[in-house]
Amino acid sequence: MKILVLLGGTSFERDVSLASGEAIVDALKKAGHEVIPVDTAKGKKLLSSSTQFLPEGVKQKPPDVKSLQRIRKELTLKTIESFDLKEADVIFLALHGAPGEDGTIQALLDMTGKPYTGSGMLGSALAMNKAMAKKIFEYEGILTPKWLLLESSNLTDIAEIEDEIEKKLGFPCVVKPNDQGSTVGFSLVEEMKDLKEAFEKVKKFTGQILIEEYISGRELTVGILDDKPLPVIEIIPEHGIYDYECKYTKGKSGYICPAKLSKEKTEEIQKIGLKAFKALGCQDYGRVDFRYSEDEKFLCLEVNSLPGMTVTSLVPKAAKAIGIEFPELVDRIVNLALKKKK
Ligand SMILES: Nc1ncnc2c1ncn2[C@@H]1O[C@H](COP(=O)(O)OP(=O)(O)OP(=O)(O)O)[C@@H](O)[C@H]1O
Ligand SMILES: [Mg+2]
Repeated sequence: MKILVLLGGTSFERDVSLASGEAIVDALKKAGHEVIPVDTAKGKKLLSSSTQFLPEGVKQKPPDVKSLQRIRKELTLKTIESFDLKEADVIFLALHGAPGEDGTIQALLDMTGKPYTGSGMLGSALAMNKAMAKKIFEYEGILTPKWLLLESSNLTDIAEIEDEIEKKLGFPCVVKPNDQGSTVGFSLVEEMKDLKEAFEKVKKFTGQILIEEYISGRELTVGILDDKPLPVIEIIPEHGIYDYECKYTKGKSGYICPAKLSKEKTEEIQKIGLKAFKALGCQDYGRVDFRYSEDEKFLCLEVNSLPGMTVTSLVPKAAKAIGIEFPELVDRIVNLALKKKK
């Protein structure tokens, strides 16, 4: 097949996407497909035939994408317009963050009628917006940490905000962007006096701030493939929080798959994971992140509609645990995209 792979992009997760793209392009080529890698941040410029898009790997911090973001809509449109999509049999989305994981590119592709991998416009948009997703979780009876949503532009009455956080969530609490991934802009706030600093940090990444109660306990994730849950993974990040550095630096996190949980608890979290994924209207594959509280409750943090796809990322790890190697995983995701359009 002729497969267009969209990667890179202009979000803070650009490097992660280049790494996912690299692995996906490599696997598709090895499977004998004709692959056209396209960086949506590069307009009409095609990538070289090399499959090394990020030779030094993902760094310890997210890249500075300010200059790219200023022209991001223009760039992305130019990219999409510049390829004869009619020639591609399918489009593989290796993008993370927005635009790409948030439904906007999905909407553009829907207009072309071309099949693409993963969730559609609505599932992607809902999954990217944590507060929207959490409202749906609550409606579905899926536990999620208590939260408050603030506009970055509306932080004037800090005393009132502090008061509300203390009343509704208490301390420690978590401050994070409502609509970003890879833990960018995140702070664990132990005391009220540290809130201001956390707001200053998060504002650089988003217009919408999500504040959550801090859930002490274990870090678990459930991958989904073909609308079925994969084995559960427990993550043991060196920093306690699964932050950017612990996500992408080798040796900074331990991974246990299948996670050490009873059969009943394993089935329970898998069932909740699939329910959360379906509740948002996500399709084909993804990943649902949880905190497992000290009183043994699974609290859903979010659904990732385009999860990391390097060979060692979480969904590939979980798939491998049931004998699905990376090339087969990529192939199955392509086939699911083709099946959906028939
Ligand atoms: N309420 C919370 N209580 C405890 N830890 C939390 C909480 N929210 C987030 N975290 C920590 O921060 C990490 C990132 O949070 P979350 O999954 O919500 O954001 P993300 O940046 O979208 O992640 P991803 O890279 O998976 O897209 C979690 O994996 C967890 O380690
Ligand atoms: Mg997450």
